[in-house]
Order: sequence, then C-alpha cells, then structure tokens
Amino acid sequence: MDFFKIVEDRRSMRKYAETPVEEEKLHKILETANRAPSAGNLQGYEIYVVRKLEQRQALVKAAWDQEFLAEAPVVLVFCANPPRSAVKYGERGTTLYSIQDATIACSYSQLAAKAQGLDTVWVGAFDEAAVSEIVNVSPDLRPVAMLPIGYAGRVPSVRPRREISDLVHEA
Ligand SMILES: Cc1cc2nc3c(=O)[nH]c(=O)nc-3n(C[C@H](O)[C@H](O)[C@H](O)COP(=O)(O)O)c2cc1C
Repeated sequence: MDFFKIVEDRRSMRKYAETPVEEEKLHKILETANRAPSAGNLQGYEIYVVRKLEQRQALVKAAWDQEFLAEAPVVLVFCANPPRSAVKYGERGTTLYSIQDATIACSYSQLAAKAQGLDTVWVGAFDEAAVSEIVNVSPDLRPVAMLPIGYAGRVPSVRPRREISDLVHEA
C-alpha cells in the first residue's frame, strides 16, 4: 500500500467490529513502533497491550465513557518512561523527550495499523492515575496515549484540516 494513501485513508475510528486482530498484524504494529526515532535512541517509553475485556471496560470509565475502548479487541497504552530519558537528558528528558518518544511510537503504530487494514483512534483524554492502576503500569511511568485497534465498525467521517498556507510559516 502506498505510504501517502495510508496517511490519507487513516481516520479516527470510534466504532469497532468484533473481529479479532490477528497476532501477526499486532506484532507488525509493535515492530513498527520499535522503529520510531527517539531522543538519543533511548526509547524512553513502554507499551502495554490490553486485551482482557474487564480491563478494557475499566479503561472506558477511566477515559470518561469512551465506549469504543471496550469494543476494540486490543488497546495499546503508550507510557512515557521519564527516568529512562533523564539518564542522559535530565529535566528535558523527563518533561519532553520521553513524552515525545512515546507519542512518536503511537503515531507509527497508527499508520502500521492502517497499512494492514486496521483502524485506530488516538485517545488522550483519560485519568492517568486510573489508567496506571488498571494496566498495572509501573509508578515511574506516565500513560500519555491509548490506541484502540480493530476492524472498522462504520465509515468514519472526514475531518477538515487547516490550509498549508495557514499552518506553515517562512522563517
Ligand atoms: C493528542 C490527541 C488526543 C486525542 N484524544 C482523543 C480522545 O480522547 N478521544 C477521541 O475520540 N479522539 C481523540 N483524538 C483524535 C482526534 O480527535 C482526531 O485525530 C482529530 O479530530 C482529527 O480526526 P482524524 O484523526 O479522523 O483525522 C486525539 C488526538 C490526539 C492527537
């Protein structure tokens, strides 16, 4: 599949079919995440794979009733690992690089999912402490993004974008 077509076709999916996600496809997504760049190549993040229905239902509550978290057969939780980045980059590693590392990996995962016919939606609105508890995240880590992954349950709407001329500035 053409890269630009994948980017163009990716939309936030908020309704999922019950069809399971094939293990090979999930593995490919995780491999792709692992190819993402990171500050100093420290990979200052961790990914938690959530499959159990009870945990996904609990994530719905932690994310202010975003029901699709329980519909998608798999949810990835991307956590910044600030101490890992801080070893080399101190405060900047703690407050910026580890979060960027985790979110770049999430972006790569979204596109790797789409390239394999799967859909996702980036979920950023959630109670971090609640998510940490549900997923048994180590206290050093900070969950920064969740990514439900599954087969589309409907045709997603197309969201508009700013004009390039509005977004891009000649310095
Ligand atoms: C940092 C971030 C946080 C987001 N949080 C949520 C969220 O909690 N729930 C949700 O349904 N969508 C969330 N989204 C998805 C955006 O609403 C979506 O990407 C945007 O409206 C553009 O639509 P598109 O992804 O279909 O192009 C988030 C996206 C980003 C990048």
